[in-house]
Amino acid sequence: MKNYADDQQSYWIETAPPGTLHPPLGSDLTVDVAVVGAGIAGLSTAWELARSGRSVAVLEAGRIATGVTGHTTAKLTALHTLVYDRLRRTRGAEAAKLYARSQTEAIRRAAGIIDELGIDCDWEDTAAFTYARDPAAVEELRAEADAAREAGLPAAYVTETDLPFPVAGAVRVMEQAQFHPRKYLLALAADLVRQGGLIHERTRIVGLKEGEPCRLTTEAGVTVTAADVVVATHYPIFDRALLFTRLSPRREVVLTAPIPSGLAPDGMYITTEQGTRSLRTAPYKDGQRLLIVTGEHFAPGTADAGERFARVADWATEHFGELTFTHRWATQDNDSTDSVPLVGPLHAGSRHAYVAAGFGGWGLSGGIMAGRLLSNLITGQKSPWSGLYDPRRVGTAVREAPAFLKHQAHVARHFVGDRLQQLSGTSVDDIAPGDGAIVRVDGHRSAVHRDEDGNLHAVSARCTHLGCLVAFNRTERAWECPCHGSRFDPDGAVLQGPATQPLEQRDT
Ligand SMILES: Cc1cc2nc3c(=O)[nH]c(=O)nc-3n(C[C@H](O)[C@H](O)[C@H](O)COP(=O)(O)OP(=O)(O)OC[C@H]3O[C@@H](n4cnc5c(N)ncnc54)[C@H](O)[C@@H]3O)c2cc1C
Ligand code: FES
Repeated sequence: MKNYADDQQSYWIETAPPGTLHPPLGSDLTVDVAVVGAGIAGLSTAWELARSGRSVAVLEAGRIATGVTGHTTAKLTALHTLVYDRLRRTRGAEAAKLYARSQTEAIRRAAGIIDELGIDCDWEDTAAFTYARDPAAVEELRAEADAAREAGLPAAYVTETDLPFPVAGAVRVMEQAQFHPRKYLLALAADLVRQGGLIHERTRIVGLKEGEPCRLTTEAGVTVTAADVVVATHYPIFDRALLFTRLSPRREVVLTAPIPSGLAPDGMYITTEQGTRSLRTAPYKDGQRLLIVTGEHFAPGTADAGERFARVADWATEHFGELTFTHRWATQDNDSTDSVPLVGPLHAGSRHAYVAAGFGGWGLSGGIMAGRLLSNLITGQKSPWSGLYDPRRVGTAVREAPAFLKHQAHVARHFVGDRLQQLSGTSVDDIAPGDGAIVRVDGHRSAVHRDEDGNLHAVSARCTHLGCLVAFNRTERAWECPCHGSRFDPDGAVLQGPATQPLEQRDT
C-alpha cells in the first residue's frame, strides 16, 4: 500500500461543493414538523413533507450530509446482503415482498427526484451482487437468490462476475444504482429551502417534550415548537422505548484508489467473508475509475482503526495490483436485531414523535424509504409497509431474542464489567504522544489524551449517554463508547450520538 493522505477525509465530502452555510437557530421557532438530523433519512423526510405543504425545520448538530451519509459507500440497492431469505424465514414471504417493494420504490423515488430537479450526482445504473468465494456458502446464496426473486426483485444465482477473482457463487440483482450521496443531498436541501423549508446547522438538540404540540430544546436553550417531530439522528438521541437494546453499532473502514477503467468491475459487490468486503467504483478523471472498498467491521471502542485500514488496503492491492490510495475514512451504522430498520412512531405512546434508525449498512435506499414512510404517517396517508418497519413491532420479539441477548451481553460486559475492571496502574506518564488511556486522577476515572506536541487533554471517562467507559481509537483520535457507539473528540465534544452532552472536563 502507498500514499494515502494521512488525515482521514471522505471522498464524498471532499468532492462535493461546500454547500450553503445554514445559520444556527438563534431564536424560538414554530413549525408543523421539526426534523432532527440532516442525513439522508432526515433530509428525505423534510423534503417529502415540504412537498406535501407542511412547514418544516431541519435541525442539524453539524453540517448537513456529513454524518454517516457523508461517509458511506453509496450503493443504492434493494439487495441487502442476505436479507430476503432471513425475512422469508422469520417474518414470512409477504414481509420479504414488502421489503423489496419499499426499497425498490425508494431507488425509483431518488431517480425521479434527480430527473425532476436535474441533479448532477454521478448516478449510474448497475447491478448489485452478494458473493462468496467459499463453496460452503453456495447453498445460502442460492436460497437468497430464490428468496429475492420470490420477493419480486430481478434476481438470479450466478457463478460468473466481473470481479478480478473467481467466486463460488453470487446473487445478482439487476436494475440497481450508485451515486454521489452528498451531491444528491445538497441539491435536495437547496430545493427544500426553495420550498420554504428551514435548515439550521450547528444546532444540537438536547431535549424533547412530547405533547400537542411537541417541544424541542437546543443546546443553546432555544425552543422549537412543532406539531410533529422526527428523530433522524442515526442512533436515536431520545429513547423512551429502549431502542438501544435493539440496536448495535458496527464500525467499518473505507479506502479509495484510482484504477484504469479497463480493470474496473461492472457492478457493486459485497461478501460477508473476511469481516465483510464491499466494493464499487465511481467516475474519476484521466480514463480511470475510483475503486471504493470497505470492510473489517468492529464495535466502536473495541479496536483501533489503523490495523483495519491496513488489512483492507492489502486486500485491495492483492486483487487490483499496486494502488495509490487517495482517501480513507471510517464510519458506523447500527444493526437492528431483526435486520429490519426501525421507522415509525418513537415509542408505544407516541402520537407525534417518530424515529428512523437501524439501517444495518443499507440506509441510503432505507433513508429515502423512511422519508416517504414518515411523511405518509405524518400527513395521515396509508403506507403498505408501515407495519413491516414499525419500531413498536412485538411479533418478532421472540425471534429477535438470540441477537438481542448477544447484544445485551456485549453491553453488559462494558457497562458493568467496566465498573469492576481495575486500572492496572496506568499513569498519565505512560501515555505516549498521539495515544490516550483511562487513568485514575484524584479518585476519578479520566480519559486522558496526549497530543503530538505533548499537551494533555483530560475529560471524564464516563460516556454521557448511559455511563459506559469510553476507549481511545488512536488512528481516529477519538474516544468511543462500546455500548451504543457515541464518539467524542479528545476535548470531549460529541462527534456522534446517541450522546448529546460533551464529556466533562477534568484536570490532569
Ligand atoms: C462503511 C459503510 C458503508 C455503507 N455503505 C452503504 C451503501 O453502499 N448503501 C447504503 O444504502 N447504505 C450504506 N451504508 C449505510 C448508510 O450510509 C447509513 O445507513 C445512512 O447514511 C444513515 O443515514 P442517517 O440519515 O440515518 O444518518 P446520518 O447521515 O448520520 O445523519 C444523522 C444526522 O443527525 C445529526 N445529529 C445527531 N445527533 C444530533 C442532535 N443531538 N441534534 C441535531 N442533529 C444531530 C448528525 O450530525 C447527522 O448529520 C453504509 C454504512 C457504513 C458504515
Ligand atoms: S453510547 Fe450509550 S453509554 Fe455510551
